[in-house]
Amino acid sequence: MPDDGAASDADRHPHNHNHHHHGHDHHGHANDRGIKGALRYLRWLPQMWRSPINDAVVDLVDPRAGERVVDIGAGLGAGAMRAAATGAHVIAVEPTPFIRRALRMRRAVSRRRADVEVVDGGAERIPVDDRTIDAIWAVNTMHHWVDVDRGVAEIARVLCPDGRVLLVDEVFTDPSHPEYERFGAEHGPEHHGFTLVDADQMGALLRAAGLADVDASNSDIAGRPVIRVTARGAAATEV
Ligand SMILES: C[S@@+](CC[C@H](N)C(=O)[O-])C[C@H]1O[C@@H](n2cnc3c(N)ncnc32)[C@H](O)[C@@H]1O
Repeated sequence: MPDDGAASDADRHPHNHNHHHHGHDHHGHANDRGIKGALRYLRWLPQMWRSPINDAVVDLVDPRAGERVVDIGAGLGAGAMRAAATGAHVIAVEPTPFIRRALRMRRAVSRRRADVEVVDGGAERIPVDDRTIDAIWAVNTMHHWVDVDRGVAEIARVLCPDGRVLLVDEVFTDPSHPEYERFGAEHGPEHHGFTLVDADQMGALLRAAGLADVDASNSDIAGRPVIRVTARGAAATEV
């Protein structure tokens, strides 16, 4: 699902439960914030619970039991929960306070809770050590990243040698998208206010960050037009 959201509402309301977020990083576009942003997200909540695109992305990433994997901008955990079912240890990074709280609740009632960690962060700040992650993915979050260069640098930093990367944004502005009628207009540049993501640009950034086997193109996943970026962590010998 697309954008919309309330990234920093909690930061402005000291009575909330967001105790971990002192000196926050502002990872979130302005239109991800505030009550209006929260209301815009409500339309998306059903698709953030479970979605064909998240199922397909996690299956492509193919997490294995015992691996440490990251879902960047995990939302309500559609991808994270599916990945946890494989026995991988999933770190679900989510910057928007109210979404993170909802994700924590989902985790708490899940049988897989021991395999899922919900953490505050964003593409620009992935709170894990260098070279500790076997696979990392993001679904429909790239256009939310406020600092794409830093996001790519973070991915390169946390990934193990040969680790897998898969970044996917649905292209709702493509008339062939099944939800073009519903969501296309609000993703057009004139309404959007988010980062316009371009496959070639993302590919160039990942290559510049030292990632291997970079491929970035417009393609289809789960019957939806997407921007799809794949790569591997730099080989160990290049350290
Ligand atoms: C359209 S939702 C997608 C959620 C989830 N990946 C899914 O597919 O169900 C976009 C998500 O990106 C998150 N987000 C916002 N700014 C972000 C950033 N700078 N880095 C990573 N995620 C961000 C939002 O909080 C929201 O959960």
